[in-house]
Amino acid sequence: MNTLDLSNKIILITGGAGAIGQVVVRTLLAHGATIAVNDVVSAEDAKAVLPNADRVRYFRADAARAEEVAAMFDAVESALGMPNVVCCHAGMVGAHPVTDYPLAEYDKLMEVNVRAAFVVAQEAARRWIAQRIAGHLIFTTSWVQDVPWPEITPYTMSKSAMKAMMRGFARELAGKGIRANAIAPGIVGVGMAKRQWDTDPSYRARASKAIPLGYMQPPESVADAFAFLCSDMASYMTGATLLVDGGCSLYPMD
Ligand SMILES: NC(=O)c1ccc[n+]([C@@H]2O[C@H](COP(=O)([O-])OP(=O)(O)OC[C@H]3O[C@@H](n4cnc5c(N)ncnc54)[C@H](O)[C@@H]3O)[C@@H](O)[C@H]2O)c1
Repeated sequence: MNTLDLSNKIILITGGAGAIGQVVVRTLLAHGATIAVNDVVSAEDAKAVLPNADRVRYFRADAARAEEVAAMFDAVESALGMPNVVCCHAGMVGAHPVTDYPLAEYDKLMEVNVRAAFVVAQEAARRWIAQRIAGHLIFTTSWVQDVPWPEITPYTMSKSAMKAMMRGFARELAGKGIRANAIAPGIVGVGMAKRQWDTDPSYRARASKAIPLGYMQPPESVADAFAFLCSDMASYMTGATLLVDGGCSLYPMD
């Protein structure tokens, strides 16, 4: 028996055309899932990075806008069926000292990281309750949800908020059979951390000392955590954070 068989799963992932998202999509596809990918990038850009497969479809929408999210769920339902796993994965980061953090960027970050996750989770939960589906929400947080890290305080705040959101959905909706969990990656070798690693020498100096396992996190390790959490192997988990961070969170702030 393939315990990571996901052929009974229809999985929606926001931010799925991003650097980690693409790897997650490929892994879930390899385990048999049907995947609805949401992002804000154009259909052409999504096509260039997503696998060309019948079981992968792209749905463009701004995950922070309730009306776009409702229309996206309608489109996903008619194309693939109602997802039974919804991954609130879209996110952004910005790095500035707390004293200089631009408030417009703060607002945008909270909109993408916190509001979008809430809007998508709320819409999914409403539909699951109406259709009596025992759905599963998965939120992508970060090891910094519990650890301060210089210049990204709004990001760490947003990931703490997502962890609290996950626990709130898990507690409030458990009686409906709806579960919620989080995956907290470390310093991944693609995407936002890698961009900062490549462009900010002070970040690189700090980050290179902050990974106890000694190397940047392969995105496949994040994707494997998704495959496990999406699978029936994790069916008794709710309200949990799966920390997959190479030990980063064992360190205090440098
Ligand atoms: N890269 C890391 O080291 C790392 C570590 C821990 C957690 N994470 C988290 O993993 C997730 C993905 O990060 P990544 O490194 O792949 O970044 P990324 O920038 O490559 O991907 C983020 C994706 O989210 C999409 N997005 C932004 N706003 C959106 C919106 N309003 N609606 C729908 N999609 C939207 C972007 O277009 C992009 O494709 C984020 O939540 C991030 O916080 C990343």
